[in-house]
Amino acid sequence: MNTKLQDDKYFSDHDYDGIKELNNPSPYWVLFLFLGTIAFSLFYAVHYFGYPNNGRDQVSEYNKQMAEAGKQLGQNPGELSAAVIFTKEQVAEGSKLFLEKGCIACHGMKLEGNAIGPNLTDKFWIHGCKPADLVKVVMEGVPEKGMVPFKTMLTEAQIKSVVGYILSMNGSNPPNAKAPQGVECK
Ligand code: HEC
Repeated sequence: MNTKLQDDKYFSDHDYDGIKELNNPSPYWVLFLFLGTIAFSLFYAVHYFGYPNNGRDQVSEYNKQMAEAGKQLGQNPGELSAAVIFTKEQVAEGSKLFLEKGCIACHGMKLEGNAIGPNLTDKFWIHGCKPADLVKVVMEGVPEKGMVPFKTMLTEAQIKSVVGYILSMNGSNPPNAKAPQGVECK
């Protein structure tokens, strides 16, 4: 038998019916690594899942990203959240309303603008570049400039449809288009 192995310093004092356990501790760096992962997992769990309302959990991250995306699309998150992606049905309804509600009287059959109202097909907007800005103009109007407020004549859904129609016509380049007014929107 290897006398070296019988030397006490190679054995722990665990002795099971004469079967001895070798004393073979893991090196300190492995131990520290192991303890380190435990410490890290505690920090991670508390920081990302446990600590209430620190905004780092998945639901908060999701909401933050949605709000960010909403801002980029020009939406007021939670308020006009349906104002940007318009369905074909909305655009068709908007087209009908544009005619029926007399928008054509001041903005023209093809939205080209006339002596009263501005061209709605160019990239120039007087009241802001975002769909939400258009919704606001149609709702509140610009009474001192002759744009009628439609919030009592159209539902919010109808106003969104009509804005969807206007946006769908943007860039259509109709004949007799009125000269640009307002600022150019990219
Ligand atoms: C009586 C005339 C009149 C009618 C009717 C009218 N508008 Fe206007 N509209 C205007 C005028 C004038 C302006 C420009 C306001 C200004 O210079 O600030 C305008 C501005 C707008 C703008 C903002 C344009 C911009 O450059 O920011 C939108 C959008 C708009 N109208 C949509 C509509 C819609 C939709 C309807 C029908 C539901 C409608 N308008 C009906 C006269 C009218």
